[in-house]
Amino acid sequence: MTAQDLDEVVHLEMRAFADPWPEMAFRSDLEKPELAFLRVARLEGRLAGYLVSWRVAGEIHLTNLAVEFDFRRRGVGQALLDELFEDARRTRAHIITLEVRKSNESAIALYLANGFRQVGLRRQYYTVGNEDALVLAFKMDSRGGVS
Ligand SMILES: CC(C)(COP(=O)(O)OP(=O)(O)OC[C@H]1O[C@@H](n2cnc3c(N)ncnc32)[C@H](O)[C@@H]1OP(=O)(O)O)[C@@H](O)C(=O)NCCC(=O)NCCS
Repeated sequence: MTAQDLDEVVHLEMRAFADPWPEMAFRSDLEKPELAFLRVARLEGRLAGYLVSWRVAGEIHLTNLAVEFDFRRRGVGQALLDELFEDARRTRAHIITLEVRKSNESAIALYLANGFRQVGLRRQYYTVGNEDALVLAFKMDSRGGVS
């Protein structure tokens, strides 16, 4: 992701989430390459999706993932997640964690299919909609990626 992607990224963010990140949040992460990992996927000349994660003390936290509506179920989310796993291996992270809305069946299906497991529940984590978050984690050892 670069600053040139931001208009399209924010346009998707506003439609994909009830509590969207402002452009400034993406811009701020772009200025911290040692902390933040940001990727976009492009298909047919358009933004197809994006992913943002943070690297903190040997851990990776997936903070944002969205795929354009008409590109869903075409493997874009999986491709972005594959890039995240590659970053985790490269930086020798030992765990990837994330929060997801309890009602978000498609995202939960994607994460469970990739070996994430529920390790916690944060009650009323999302103020918009007053919804609980599942805390999911993937331990890198179980994928055999860290040597
Ligand atoms: C969740 C999201 C990123 C998935 O992206 P995607 O590109 O459609 O996912 P993929 O096509 O790569 O799907 C990979 C696998 O995930 C699972 N999956 C994805 N969407 C699913 C759905 N709607 N129902 C059931 N399983 C689903 C399936 O196992 C799928 O494999 P399959 O298509 O071979 O069955 C997308 O739905 C999205 O942007 N949602 C809104 C934003 C969001 O909720 N982000 C996550 C915040 S935590």
